[in-house]
Amino acid sequence: MKPLILVVDDDASLRRVLEYNLLEEGYQVVPASSGEEGLRLFDEISPDLVITDMKMPGISGMQLLSAIRERSLDAMVIIITAFGTIDLAVKAIKSGAYDYITKPYSRDALRITVANALRFKGLATENRRLKSELSDRADFRTIIGASSAMEKVFGIVDRVADTEASVLITGESGTGKELVARSIHLRSSRQNKPFVAINCAAIPYDLLESELFGHVKGAFTGAVRDREGKFQLADGGTIFLDEIGELPVGLQPKLLRVLQEKAVEPVGGTKPSKLDLRILAATNLDIEKAVSEGKFREDLYYRLSVIPIHLPPLRERREDIQLLIKYFCGKHGERKVSFDRECMELMVSYRWPGNVRELENSIERILIMRNGDTIKADDLPEKIRSGASNSLSGINGNEEVIVRFPDDGYSLERLEREAVVHALERNRWNQAAAARFLRIPRHTLIYRMEKYGISMPGKSG
Ligand SMILES: Nc1ncnc2c1ncn2[C@@H]1O[C@H](COP(=O)(O)OP(=O)(O)OP(=O)(O)O)[C@@H](O)[C@H]1O
Ligand SMILES: [Mg+2]
Repeated sequence: MKPLILVVDDDASLRRVLEYNLLEEGYQVVPASSGEEGLRLFDEISPDLVITDMKMPGISGMQLLSAIRERSLDAMVIIITAFGTIDLAVKAIKSGAYDYITKPYSRDALRITVANALRFKGLATENRRLKSELSDRADFRTIIGASSAMEKVFGIVDRVADTEASVLITGESGTGKELVARSIHLRSSRQNKPFVAINCAAIPYDLLESELFGHVKGAFTGAVRDREGKFQLADGGTIFLDEIGELPVGLQPKLLRVLQEKAVEPVGGTKPSKLDLRILAATNLDIEKAVSEGKFREDLYYRLSVIPIHLPPLRERREDIQLLIKYFCGKHGERKVSFDRECMELMVSYRWPGNVRELENSIERILIMRNGDTIKADDLPEKIRSGASNSLSGINGNEEVIVRFPDDGYSLERLEREAVVHALERNRWNQAAAARFLRIPRHTLIYRMEKYGISMPGKSG
């Protein structure tokens, strides 16, 4: 893509010459006739480089330079100074300009200075990307778990990592879906290429298509230049479509086409370009249900979920809790800290609705608030301390039963009704299965359904 240069000069003829010279070199150019206009355009188009004259009425080149540096430390600015004002040029460089050109300038001087500035900017960006990837790597290498459920996950990750298969990772919030996605990327031969994550739920609908696939200049108001989407940025690497269940129905056919044809067409563009991408996706929604309700296209679902990986909630793999606690203490530099028995039992029996993320946050807090190297029940947050005392938790067959009793009492009838509804719902209103689930004969279930007036939603009677 062509670098975009903002040219600021109050002298119309000089501005036009500069613009013409830069266009000849193959750059995109946006002109501004004052410092004020330059600053406004800078915010609007975020150019790769700014070339500004020094002496202008209103906001001067020097003031423009400092306003731009305030907004972005990596903004590249070249200033143009009149012959004989070298001290001004020196001052500008001290304030963060990349270089200067003296008027009258030769085309060669312009060409070389601009090319150097852009090359430098490219290196700086690349450097920053590599650094952030390195720190990501340290964090994202380790997935802790010894439960059979996690062993199963590790087995799948090992087998699929270095393939091209699409993987759909499901699980409640905080169960480690993104961690698994990054770990797949880092174990694949694409590990040195970009890993680009995009949260489909966080971007407004109007912007999502262009955010994913890019747009061409003029595709819509505000599209003042060509812009690459996340797909183009991920070329050669892995793209991670987070919260895929929230992808608007309107965009689903387009994504499907991209996956089938391995080519992307930017918004307003005419020809798709080929991309080499590995696709990973994640969701905490029940996506099969979304498919059956027509909210998610079945064909797209099958494309994405060639390999499904499910991460069970932490409360269904409590064996991992103790290990995770040790790991997070170490991660926060507190290897010598231990939990006494009562305290560990509370931690293990707490329900962890926010899963591993909640566990990590709690450990962080406990480490800050603790009164010594041995953590006792008193050091735990209230929700964990009281969790066990007003709930009944036990193993019933393979099914874990957790009932929370409100402090002001409860109605046994209501509890029974809720159990019946729960059993029916999770067995898709299959009465025989629900009766087995509740370990009662089927006629007892039917009797209770009638007693409480429970019927399948959408069906009467
Ligand atoms: N098994 C694990 N071992 C070590 N750290 C973990 C594990 N699972 C999750 N974490 C950590 O817990 C936090 C949450 O994990 P992650 O962001 O991958 O969850 P998620 O499933 O993507 O959640 P959400 O659906 O809310 O986006 C991260 O800091 C992650 O590193
Ligand atoms: Mg996530």
